[in-house]
Amino acid sequence: MAIKKLLSPILLLLGCAYAQLQSQNNTFNSTFRLTSQQIKAANLSETTAHNVEVALNFERSNNAGSLTQDDPFYVLPKDYDYANPPPPGTVLKVEEHTNISLYTLPMGLSMSRILYSSEALNGSSVPASAYVLWPYLPRTFSKLTPYSDTNSSGQALFPVVALAHGTSGQTTACAPSNLRGLWDDFHEPFAIALAGYAVVAPDYVGLGVAEISTYFILPAHANDVFHGVAAAQKAWPDQLSQEFVVAGQSQGGAVAWASAQRQAKRPVKGYLGTMAASPFTNVLADISADAMAENNARVVGIAQGLNSVLPTFSLSDWLTDAGIARWKLLHEIQGCGATGGQLFNTGARTVPILRDGWNTSEAAMWFSNVTTNGGRPFAGPMLVLQGTDDPNANEPVTTLSVNKTCAMYPDNQLEYIRWENITHVPVLYAGQHLWLDWIRDRFAGVEAPKGCSTQTMKPPSRINGAGFKGWASQTWFLEYDVYGI
Ligand SMILES: *[C@@H]1O[C@H](CO)[C@@H](O)[C@H](O)[C@H]1NC(C)=O
Ligand SMILES: *[C@@H]1O[C@H](CO)[C@@H](O)[C@H](O)[C@H]1NC(C)=O
Ligand SMILES: *[C@@H]1O[C@H](CO)[C@@H](O)[C@H](O)[C@H]1NC(C)=O
Ligand SMILES: *[C@@H]1O[C@H](CO)[C@@H](O)[C@H](O)[C@H]1NC(C)=O
Ligand SMILES: *[C@@H]1O[C@H](CO)[C@@H](O)[C@H](O)[C@H]1NC(C)=O
Ligand SMILES: *[C@@H]1O[C@H](CO)[C@@H](O)[C@H](O)[C@H]1NC(C)=O
Ligand SMILES: *[C@@H]1O[C@H](CO)[C@@H](O)[C@H](O)[C@H]1NC(C)=O
Ligand SMILES: *[C@@H]1O[C@H](CO)[C@@H](O)[C@H](O)[C@H]1NC(C)=O
Ligand SMILES: *[C@@H]1O[C@H](CO)[C@@H](O)[C@H](O)[C@H]1NC(C)=O
Ligand SMILES: *[C@@H]1O[C@H](CO)[C@@H](O)[C@H](O)[C@H]1NC(C)=O
Repeated sequence: MAIKKLLSPILLLLGCAYAQLQSQNNTFNSTFRLTSQQIKAANLSETTAHNVEVALNFERSNNAGSLTQDDPFYVLPKDYDYANPPPPGTVLKVEEHTNISLYTLPMGLSMSRILYSSEALNGSSVPASAYVLWPYLPRTFSKLTPYSDTNSSGQALFPVVALAHGTSGQTTACAPSNLRGLWDDFHEPFAIALAGYAVVAPDYVGLGVAEISTYFILPAHANDVFHGVAAAQKAWPDQLSQEFVVAGQSQGGAVAWASAQRQAKRPVKGYLGTMAASPFTNVLADISADAMAENNARVVGIAQGLNSVLPTFSLSDWLTDAGIARWKLLHEIQGCGATGGQLFNTGARTVPILRDGWNTSEAAMWFSNVTTNGGRPFAGPMLVLQGTDDPNANEPVTTLSVNKTCAMYPDNQLEYIRWENITHVPVLYAGQHLWLDWIRDRFAGVEAPKGCSTQTMKPPSRINGAGFKGWASQTWFLEYDVYGI
């Protein structure tokens, strides 16, 4: 607002000499409108239709340049052979220097994107995209890691953090690599890259390259993490370290833990450990413990994921006709999380989206078995962060999964840290220096403590004392600067 006040007299003086400024308050960079057929087919009320338009326009204003589905980067090379795809880990395309003026990156970072082959749940090769976020200088460590942190001519390599992203959506349009703030912005990728690591972050299959998103089929997302890292290491062998730490929060925390479980079964050289923040460990329990209607969008996404991997499942097993009509609309207009929220969460208060019994169906049991974190072998060391007031990935659910894991694998290395009065995303900020130090220690070759430990963090009593109103939650989002200042 202050900028606008300052600029308007200048503009009056200079008249037509300058291009007209775009208003950047509530006028997003899209004029998208639903057609009357779309509104009718999805049976949207006037308010829901309006809200969907606002949400979609907001999402489109966050795309880096063109929409993902219009960005030629996400088109597979002409010689890509669907009948005989290259093996997982193959590099398909490298965009060495992404046009970062289209993004809202912290200053001093640069970025690349790749297409590569990942691996579906059934082991088949499937194309995917990823970004690499580069700091200006690699972080170096006083103590050498078990592997080498320099290439053969002694140049420091960028230490790699493999980042599993949180939920951005379930359609092609929702690739973090094509969002101005990379979806998780300062929560994770910016903070990690600014600390001197190269962030290698896959867009889960189906986000970016046109495929069906296997939303929340965690072992498939974990495949994206490992093959994304392998592909990036092939693309930049002289820049990226062999060793890497896996990190993620929310859906990404679930993927990170699933990655530690994958590593126990299929060890990959260079793995140094996992940081899982506010992880979903038992998705159905998290959802049923949560009274928020917000979960409908997640369940619709999971139904889509199941539909793509479980032949006996069809969407109508879980979704009502209204739910299916809205799911179709979401795909038609390529909406992401904000749009899905308007279609499924708010709308669900008047139109039922889920069929009764969806969560006790056979498919639900199959899903649970495939995606459970905890009570299973994992490759330590692992750091788990959990806010006690998380309404999304619930603390009792995570604690139970940690307890089970520790009872079964008492000699592995698991550090569990609970954060009093802290919720889902803020745990990354409340704990930022702690988890960044933990990642540094893995590269520095510091031995993580053996066995399981649980700690509960709380701030000093004077800060947390009488009259305490709670810790800040997110009241901002990053906005693209069209004024050039
Ligand atoms: C957005 O900017 C326009 C033009 O400057 C102004 O008319 C409008 O009131 C603003 N809206 C809000 C929500 O600030
Ligand atoms: C359309 O939605 C309204 C509520 O907004 C509901 O009463 C009606 O039954 C729905 N119609 C169909 C065909 O689903
Ligand atoms: C608005 O969208 C158009 C078309 O996708 C794009 O060319 C333009 O750069 C965008 N402008 C801003 C300010 O994002
Ligand atoms: C990068 O994006 C900016 C902003 O849209 C544009 O002006 C510039 O031409 C682009 N650069 C290249 C090399 O495409
Ligand atoms: C494996 O799963 C993918 C979807 O994840 C599917 O497209 C493909 O047909 C499946 N392949 C086999 C052999 O079942
Ligand atoms: C080592 O890395 C530097 C900097 O990236 C590069 O210029 C050099 O070619 C690399 N040397 C070898 C032998 O890989
Ligand atoms: C299934 O969902 C219902 C309604 O939301 C809930 O009351 C019930 O506890 C859930 N059951 C399980 C096993 O999660
Ligand atoms: C869970 O999945 C494993 C394979 O991933 C399978 O061997 C086992 O039978 C499944 N258990 C149930 C209860 O479905
Ligand atoms: C987890 O274990 C701790 C320590 O043994 C215990 O105090 C707590 O009640 C357990 N919580 C759950 C949910 O099992
Ligand atoms: C913070 O957590 C403690 C322990 O769970 C609780 O007693 C207290 O009421 C909480 N404070 C706020 C402001 O939520």
